[in-house]
Amino acid sequence: MTDLVVHDAAQVVTPTDGSELETIRDGAVAIEDGAVVAVGPTDEVARERPPENATAAIDASGKTVLPGFVDPHTHASFAGDRADEFSAKLRGATYQEILAEGGGILRTVRAVREATRDGLVQNLLQQLDVMLASGTTTVEVKSGYGLDVETEVKMLEAIAEANDRHPIDVVATFMGAHAVPEDMEADAYVDRVVEEQLPAIAERGLAEFCDVFCEAGVFSVEQSRRVLEAGREHGLKPKIHADEFERLGGAQLAAEIGATSADHLLQSTTEDISALGEANVTPVLLPGTAFSLATDYADASAFEAADIPVAIATDFNPNCYSQSMEFAIELACNGMRMSPASAIRSATATAAEALDRTDGTGTLQVDSPGDLVVAGVPDYEHLPYNFGVRNVETVVKGGEVVHRD
Ligand code: NIG
Ligand code: FE
Repeated sequence: MTDLVVHDAAQVVTPTDGSELETIRDGAVAIEDGAVVAVGPTDEVARERPPENATAAIDASGKTVLPGFVDPHTHASFAGDRADEFSAKLRGATYQEILAEGGGILRTVRAVREATRDGLVQNLLQQLDVMLASGTTTVEVKSGYGLDVETEVKMLEAIAEANDRHPIDVVATFMGAHAVPEDMEADAYVDRVVEEQLPAIAERGLAEFCDVFCEAGVFSVEQSRRVLEAGREHGLKPKIHADEFERLGGAQLAAEIGATSADHLLQSTTEDISALGEANVTPVLLPGTAFSLATDYADASAFEAADIPVAIATDFNPNCYSQSMEFAIELACNGMRMSPASAIRSATATAAEALDRTDGTGTLQVDSPGDLVVAGVPDYEHLPYNFGVRNVETVVKGGEVVHRD
């Protein structure tokens, strides 16, 4: 029997293989055993699978149905927050100044070292609830506020437990190389990451990806290469924070080693962008980070000119405190001047590529996971047009309604 039929939607939206979105007017989606079994005009879908015979039905009249959003870059597991740094930034302090004074990431590291594993699980579950209400059905969460083997393992265990207990699919990334601990030199710390942390994480099967903050004053290109190559030897796929504040060469490194994604890319040049395209590395742009740091946005038009689809993500962390992919889509349009169609594709199908998901996650087609959102707007263009509010009303994960306003 059909588990769920969403019917009579003003518009059903799904990214196709090209750069466009496919739309169906008066559309429906049927889901069985967690996967999509039919997408099309309501009269066609309902002929074979009448909503009244399904276990559950959603009348989406006047509303838009989209794939569940995929958020491919967050630091959502942490303790405490840094609201006071927000005020300091508004008074003119920079991110790097705050970090150099032992604030920023290092302050969250102190809080996470003190937190219990269960405390971290509870914090993350709360954040996942907020994400879900904004339409996120798959999210990547990084470690990296431990910077020692014990706390990195604690974080990744908390991430695994939150994944088990929450409807959102949580993809775990090990990011021991997120900052250099206060009492160490970068080279000596990289030894620890490679020799102690990575084996402990890999042995416990706690992460799918390995990430590094390749940035002036943090980890050099050579140090980043060492971390990512060691990660790969342990079976973890590489990701990289690249060219955020300075063009250090992180995007080129990503291309050279065939990383799954390269993220931030604010300072990347057209050569860097083509190198990413040739190496099939998915670029991930983070408009919320630029917004919260009041810097320029990444140049989305340069990627578009090179015909390279980008993903977008929230980068949710104590410095960039937004869990909402809806807001990321709005900023992609209003800040990076992306079209609504490109921004939505970036938040769904291309975001799934940044997480190496090849099972149809981020799309709505036969056999893709039954993950969708129903938004209270008449078509997808209205989603970023009506910014600053939550347009998502209902969220479905694997065919089950997991959030309803
Ligand atoms: O992607 N750049 C490094 N990591 C995060 C910030 C984490 C933090 O400030 O706590 C980022 O923006
Ligand atoms: Fe990040």
